[in-house]
Amino acid sequence: LVVDVNTSLAKVNPNMWGVFFEDINMGADGGIYAELVKNRSFEFFRPMMGWKNLGPVKEGNYLILNRQMSNAGNPRYLRVDKKTNTAIGLRNEGFRGMGVKQGNTYEFSVWYRQQKPGITLRVELVDSAGTVIGKTELKTTQENKQWRYQEVSFTSNKTDQKANLQIWFEGEGTIDLDMISLFPTDTWQGRKNGLRADMVQTLADLKPGFIRFPGGCIVEGFDLSQRFQWKKTVGPIENRQLIVNRWNTEFAHRLTPDYFQTFGLGFFEYFQLAEDLGAEPLPILNCGMACQFNSAEVVPLDQLDEYVQDALDLIEFANGAVSTKWGKLRADMGHSAPFNLKMLGVGNENWGPQYVERLKVFQEALKKYHPEIEIIASSGTDPEGERFQYLDKELRAMKIDIIDEHFYRDPDWFLSNAKRYDNYDRQGAKIFAGEYASHSKNNKKPEYRNNWEAALSEAAFLTGVERNADVVQLASYAPLFAHIDGWQWTPDLIWVDNLNVYVTPSYHVQKIFSTNKGTDVVPLHSNGATLTGENKIYGSAVVDKQSNELILKIVNIGDSAKELAIDLRGIKKAQGKATVSVLRHDDPLAYNEVGKAPSVTPIESEVNYKGKKLVYTASSQSVNLIKLKL
Ligand code: AHR
Repeated sequence: LVVDVNTSLAKVNPNMWGVFFEDINMGADGGIYAELVKNRSFEFFRPMMGWKNLGPVKEGNYLILNRQMSNAGNPRYLRVDKKTNTAIGLRNEGFRGMGVKQGNTYEFSVWYRQQKPGITLRVELVDSAGTVIGKTELKTTQENKQWRYQEVSFTSNKTDQKANLQIWFEGEGTIDLDMISLFPTDTWQGRKNGLRADMVQTLADLKPGFIRFPGGCIVEGFDLSQRFQWKKTVGPIENRQLIVNRWNTEFAHRLTPDYFQTFGLGFFEYFQLAEDLGAEPLPILNCGMACQFNSAEVVPLDQLDEYVQDALDLIEFANGAVSTKWGKLRADMGHSAPFNLKMLGVGNENWGPQYVERLKVFQEALKKYHPEIEIIASSGTDPEGERFQYLDKELRAMKIDIIDEHFYRDPDWFLSNAKRYDNYDRQGAKIFAGEYASHSKNNKKPEYRNNWEAALSEAAFLTGVERNADVVQLASYAPLFAHIDGWQWTPDLIWVDNLNVYVTPSYHVQKIFSTNKGTDVVPLHSNGATLTGENKIYGSAVVDKQSNELILKIVNIGDSAKELAIDLRGIKKAQGKATVSVLRHDDPLAYNEVGKAPSVTPIESEVNYKGKKLVYTASSQSVNLIKLKL
């Protein structure tokens, strides 16, 4: 093999490797959004979903009132009316229980209004056996009939995956309650009402160059009334209008009829997360079409204005001066500096002439008012199919900036597509490999299809993506998160339970590429040919001009180890050391099981090279990261 460090074939986009976040598999509510109370504002289909009577309740003690259009964002609230002193209680089950930690502080908060003062709230955290593990009291301090926000904190004396919250109403009186909430205080960056720190850290460890949000199919919705509308996800959280999640029940392997989007994680928080991660924000907006896998609902072309205006206003929200309407809202929410939005996606996996027609309307307005923003359009999921081919042709003819391609295919597809981008047009649209995951056919346990065979084939494919970094500007695996007790789609990059995060072999593969991206692609070949599967070896090479390193990624999908002699052309020192990190397993079906020691995890070592030649043995079924100083 020959690698030539002095020949730059392509510049690597510094933000090439990113993450795609969607609220699927309890990724947001019940996942990264750290709220522990399910159905905190009684807006689920069944208003008391997630809540249970603890008795002894009399007729009329609880009432759900509906303000309807007078508070369209948050119509319902709970009235507790008590005429005797006996305490009555409610229990909230959380999202498959509440994960709580010993010694951690929890903030209980509520909006209330006293119709007739006299009720005190006794707040308890109970473990899965029903034992009280933390408690406090919320004494209502406002006597008049105005809504008031109040909070109180307490500590848990036990760690439990499946704790519940109990609220006992003591005394006599009538009180209205809304937004009953419980948050841990050990959130990401200690932010109030923030995100689960362990989950965000797992993303931060990938050093993502961008974060695509909020979806995925949830952008489109079952129908247009349930589409994702960013404007309803910003401003005070008590006014954000909840909708049913597109991944509720219908597509669930484990039923999730309680899957709603409360939007506590809304567009402001997504932008903030992107900033925290040092990633470019990459929002996707609805193009005037509902999810075509569900329905064929579209907005008539002459009524698309509202949708286009949402896109223009989003740019103002992200980048506009604080004197503008939407820029002011951003500032009021705590971020007067712009978020520096540079890319915007219009539509997700929409297809047909209906998509093209609508996209053209967006393109015209966006290029007129915001030529600085790159437009991303989706070509769908069937790369060999007619829909995809049609869109690819149309999008290129429209001179769309970036085409978003999605691949959920078996390992063989990934292996044979390591050459996919070699012959792509270098002058036209850039490519965003926006959703990909190898779906192994050979694993009986669907939740663990993130097996080694899948990850190995992804690594082989990604060497081709990296080699073609001049065309493929952005790449992200999908989906990102899955909760072990509430998922709809598998495989997924990162699995969680209420307290822990478990990374998959595919995560390690992503991390190899995203944290070793280099600055320039350089040639790596065997007798002039790229490493795209000959002798079961795949490979790519980059140099990093900042860290002054050569970085090789070599994938051996074969059943035997291969000795490779690599001629290090252009290296300064004749001899030295290379650091090596290897992912490998003999069993293609090996996976990292939740709660157990990981089967596939990087193993670090070193290897010497002499006479500008590196002799390296790539183990059977292995992904090898080799780095040495230039
Ligand atoms: O990643 C899961 C789903 O796959 C996304 O929501 C959608 O874009 C694709 O079909």
